[in-house]
Amino acid sequence: MKILVTGGAGFIGSNFIRLLLQQHPEHKIINLDLLTYAGNLENLKDLSSHPCYSFVRGDICDAGVVEDLQFDAIIHFAAESHVDRSILDSSPFLQTNIMGTKNLLEAARRRGCRMVHVSTDEVYGSITQGLFTEASPLSPNSPYAASKASSDLFARAYYETYGTEVVITRCSNNYGPYQFPEKLIPLMISHAMTGKALPVYGDGKNVRDWIHVHDHNRAVDLVFHKGRAGEVYNIGGRNEQQNIDIIRKILSVVAEIQGTDPERLNGLITYVKDRPGHDRRYAIDPVKLESELGWKAEVAFDEGIAATVRWYIENKDWWSRILSGEYMKYYETQYGQRLGK
Ligand code: NAD
Ligand code: DAU
Repeated sequence: MKILVTGGAGFIGSNFIRLLLQQHPEHKIINLDLLTYAGNLENLKDLSSHPCYSFVRGDICDAGVVEDLQFDAIIHFAAESHVDRSILDSSPFLQTNIMGTKNLLEAARRRGCRMVHVSTDEVYGSITQGLFTEASPLSPNSPYAASKASSDLFARAYYETYGTEVVITRCSNNYGPYQFPEKLIPLMISHAMTGKALPVYGDGKNVRDWIHVHDHNRAVDLVFHKGRAGEVYNIGGRNEQQNIDIIRKILSVVAEIQGTDPERLNGLITYVKDRPGHDRRYAIDPVKLESELGWKAEVAFDEGIAATVRWYIENKDWWSRILSGEYMKYYETQYGQRLGK
């Protein structure tokens, strides 16, 4: 089968392509990626000459680009993915996350092919008690989450209206190698390694359910091969933690590996003005995926986070190149005033 993977040069997509090629030598992959600020072909350099892999640079919003490609199925990761950027300017989020997804749904409809739409638990909004199930109402709070919820509704509409074989996944917060260093975990690791302030939004007690990218991708693989069309599958790590605890854990691992004084690293923690509309708690119930498709998270958090910190320490060149480029303009806008610079 020829599978069109969109957004395969990003964090989750690049890890997914590596997993799919290992697990399914019977498939061929076309990676369609625009290479925005978040796309990086270095993430896939070990696979660039793999006989079952090819890369096309292109925009999912351009129907002609998608039309020209030959494929039998779609696994759709491409998106604008960072909440803080959506607060600064939501336009690219509407364009890529809604219009781009609609284009892919249209291609799937016309070709009669299967599509997995990779979505997020953020579409459910914030929850005080209990867990989000697939039946929880959509209640997105950030422009990013609103754009993803819209794309989910289009996916649903294509299934209901045209019978398009689309399945939606909604996963919690991922961590692991190749995550763009604007996101909490790689941001904190890279700042700890370089002695920069660690900007904690609000009181640091917001809760996220962290899952290793490998477990997310194993779930997407299963849903692609065995999930029921028209269904939603929640994916979560049963690993709720407050941001401040995650940060302290990262600092203790960095201190241990680098032989740095943990107290000096703790001193870098800086509480800053909160993210507007900051969701207090995400908590997702993955029981449907577990009972129906036999999935279970495999990576224990303590091991996963230690391996991730080690990866960033060993791959400093990878993130240093990113941090020295265009990213610094965004960094100044997002953190300059907050950190009093
Ligand atoms: P990312 O920002 O690391 O990567 C996104 C990729 O999409 C990049 O390679 C980028 O170049 C590409 N892209 C962006 N706009 C494009 C366009 N118009 N045409 C083609 N390619 C384009 O994102 P990620 O963290 O890997 O997230 C991947 C998907 O998983 C997203 O749909 C996101 O909503 C979803 N998701 C992410 C998480 C998480 O914790 N990161 C959790 C749940 C769901
Ligand atoms: O839940 C799934 C979502 O997880 C995905 O859909 C998104 O694509 C992904 O970016 C992530 O969204 P979050 O907003 O939860 O992730 P982020 O890494 O931006 O922030 C995690 C938490 O850390 C959140 O409560 C905000 C806080 N934070 C973040 C940054 C960047 C800080 O306190 N300081 C920071 O500098």
